[in-house]
Amino acid sequence: MELSVNVDHVATVREARGGTQPDPVFAAMVAELAGATGVVCHLREDRRHINDRDVRLLREVVKTRLNLEMAPTEEMVAIAREVLPDIVTLVPERRQERTTEGGLNVVHQRHYLQTVVEMLHEADIRVSLFVEPVLEQIEAAADIGADIVELHTGHYANATSPEAARQELQRLHNAAEFARTMRLRVAAGHGLTYDNIVPICRIQAIEDVSIGHAIVARAVYVGFERAVRQMVELIRYGRLLPPLALS
Ligand code: PXP
Repeated sequence: MELSVNVDHVATVREARGGTQPDPVFAAMVAELAGATGVVCHLREDRRHINDRDVRLLREVVKTRLNLEMAPTEEMVAIAREVLPDIVTLVPERRQERTTEGGLNVVHQRHYLQTVVEMLHEADIRVSLFVEPVLEQIEAAADIGADIVELHTGHYANATSPEAARQELQRLHNAAEFARTMRLRVAAGHGLTYDNIVPICRIQAIEDVSIGHAIVARAVYVGFERAVRQMVELIRYGRLLPPLALS
């Protein structure tokens, strides 16, 4: 299982003072040295953390895979086609939200999103769609030519009882297996932490995880390199455990 580190909140700390430190570009290089196999950043419409300069520099320095998260807007598609990240992850975006709140509604926006996917494919960019672990959404993602689905793990992360967490793992497992039958690569992300990552690693069909906030939060105490390395080790350990006993 591959770990992509989201560096948005390194930029959040920088923006708290409007200066130049800490630099998400530097953090990306440290993440790669610590074993991450990808770097993610979300260029939001309001540029509240990552900005255009960050994306351009990240493209130059990231040697693993650069995954640009963005809303499927004309402005963002033009930036992606110029910067050429390895992957674009399309996410819904609302100005007032604190972080991405839900998955894309691919079923309802099928035609529009298909055009966006085609424009990104023309530039040789692989496209991932961030969706809820819901079969109709995954089927629609495959139909419009997505390469990857990233399953939203927010409900799992926010589960308030072991039984609720188990139900969410079951949903993620079913969705991931279904996506594989549709020949999609499967990623997962949102709200994943050192405490909840291991059961996700035990879902074999999930091949990538995208983690930001938990790593940046731990980095405050132990340093960025160590925080990434600890997550890499935990993922390796989780992958060695037998698959989850789900139906
Ligand atoms: N994946 C997607 C699509 C996201 O929007 C985010 C948040 O930016 C993440 C993963 C990472 O979430 P977290 O910061 O909670 O690890």
